[in-house]
Amino acid sequence: MPIQWSEQYEVGDPRTDSQHRNLFDYANQIEQLIEQARAGRLDRQAVEHLFVFLDAYVNTHFAYEELCMALRGCKVAQKNKEAHNKFLEFWTEFNRQHTPQSISTAALENLHATLAGWLTQHICKVDVALRSTV
Ligand SMILES: [Fe+2]
Repeated sequence: MPIQWSEQYEVGDPRTDSQHRNLFDYANQIEQLIEQARAGRLDRQAVEHLFVFLDAYVNTHFAYEELCMALRGCKVAQKNKEAHNKFLEFWTEFNRQHTPQSISTAALENLHATLAGWLTQHICKVDVALRSTV
């Protein structure tokens, strides 16, 4: 079931919110990829786009958000950075084990579960602290 964007996820910074919304879209798209994989007709080019997006996300978006928090003296800046590093470790290891050409249904399910947890736990509980700094 898709995770719907709602205002509880807004951090009050338009650029950050837009990047987060993109992550929602990609996370929800994985559900379709899982269905395709189960049916034996996985669109591997779409998986490749997903990998490229996540690479950019963990580099560009994390850096931007960390800078925002640091500049605004956000009280969870360090906690946020540590969570990003942990996610980066997950993504690095995931990349070591899987490529768009070799990825399995189980790996897609794992990625989806991780991203879904990230959206509802990290964005909703840590990133939203930016709100109080705007
Ligand atoms: Fe964050």
